[in-house]
Amino acid sequence: MAEPSPARPLVRLLAWVDERFPLSETFEYHASKYHAPKNFNFWYYFGVLALVILVMQLLTGLWLTMSYVPSGEGAFASVEYIMRDVEYGDIIRLAHSTGASAFFAVIYLHMFRALAYGSYRKPRELLWLIGMAIFLVMMAEGFFGYLLPWGNMSYWAGQVIVSLVGAVPFVGEELMTWVRGDFGISDITLNRFFALHVVALPIALIGLVFVHIVALHHVGSNNPDGVEIKANKDDNGIPLDSIPFHPYYTVHDFQATVAFLIVFCAILFFVPEMFGYFLEKPNFEQADPLKTPDLIVPVWYYTPFYSMLRATTFPLFGVAAKFWGLVVMGAAVMMPAVLPWLDRSPVKSIRYKGLISKFMLALLVVSFFILGYLGTIHATPLTTGIAQIGTLIYFAYFILMPWYTRIEKTKTPPERLT
Ligand code: HEM
Repeated sequence: MAEPSPARPLVRLLAWVDERFPLSETFEYHASKYHAPKNFNFWYYFGVLALVILVMQLLTGLWLTMSYVPSGEGAFASVEYIMRDVEYGDIIRLAHSTGASAFFAVIYLHMFRALAYGSYRKPRELLWLIGMAIFLVMMAEGFFGYLLPWGNMSYWAGQVIVSLVGAVPFVGEELMTWVRGDFGISDITLNRFFALHVVALPIALIGLVFVHIVALHHVGSNNPDGVEIKANKDDNGIPLDSIPFHPYYTVHDFQATVAFLIVFCAILFFVPEMFGYFLEKPNFEQADPLKTPDLIVPVWYYTPFYSMLRATTFPLFGVAAKFWGLVVMGAAVMMPAVLPWLDRSPVKSIRYKGLISKFMLALLVVSFFILGYLGTIHATPLTTGIAQIGTLIYFAYFILMPWYTRIEKTKTPPERLT
């Protein structure tokens, strides 16, 4: 590259900054000299989309906080005020609620990609564990946020979920009071959930996403073939099958972001409630401790796990089924964390794994959808039976993995990316 003219003010400013802070160096390390595999596909858009949504949630959340009143008296009315009287308040509020659903949709796709291409395997175990920590924080963030509008579903879903803690043997009752800060869900509970939702968890999330990217760029990206590009380098130490992230993938990611925003805006402007899946009907009424909604279920992104909780109907060792439901639900959420140590296949990507792996992954996806749906409707003996089968399939995918990844016949992956 030609030496920039010292007369250009921006170049001189950059040189001034670079002497004092590694700005160009950081940009080069993470973008223009970050060598990414040349065969990224559709599934590699969801990381950047998650970043975009994270920023959107932080911005819309910040503006909501300017008019939201965190008290049992004022919360519901302040949300109505935002929706009706604050300039662009309806768009800000619905962008935040739609953003929550979009966030989970994108993250589930992001995680599915990692399952399919074995992105959790060596040397990306820590990257994967950081991802799992992000997922847990997101779950908590969504739950605390849902209570804030103080609608009737906020109140009752909060009640149901917090009461699960009460099922812990011996200390349950005290634990529940400690979590709520009161003998029932109250103003105090709302206030602490507000503090966690707007201060503690967003900070944790930003910190974790930062280390997620640092870890990723340290080990390098995986790819749809699951072939390590660092195994074949040129004389300058640059992987032969790579292209610089900037400008090649930044341009792609920009296109994906525009496409995503078109879909997002279409939902935001035309179906922000998504027929009760994104915003549930009872939440358009103020919290009422005397009026239980006909059906209390969490938002769609929790329902696969909620289904597993409801499917656990057997008391064991003299402890109530409700407690075991809590254990099963917690185990289901945490289970993917141990994947790097369960997968014994000689290959990473599903493209080269055997039939059993392909079948198990397909079964996992189908059961996850069915569980998700069952979690949104009333439980009957039939749906409980189906949810129990779905729960077994979900756990079988993980628990049987050391076995089926070892015995199945795999294909030989290519040496180089084609
Ligand atoms: C706020 C949430 C998250 C953000 C902003 C985020 C961001 C990113 C970005 C930008 C990438 C690189 C681009 C890509 O591969 O798509 C990436 C890769 C990755 N992420 Fe995330 N991520 C998030 C959550 C998660 C979660 C919850 C998991 C798993 C539990 C996870 C696991 C991974 C893995 C394994 C990779 C490497 C994939 C590969 O190279 O094949 N991430 N992430």
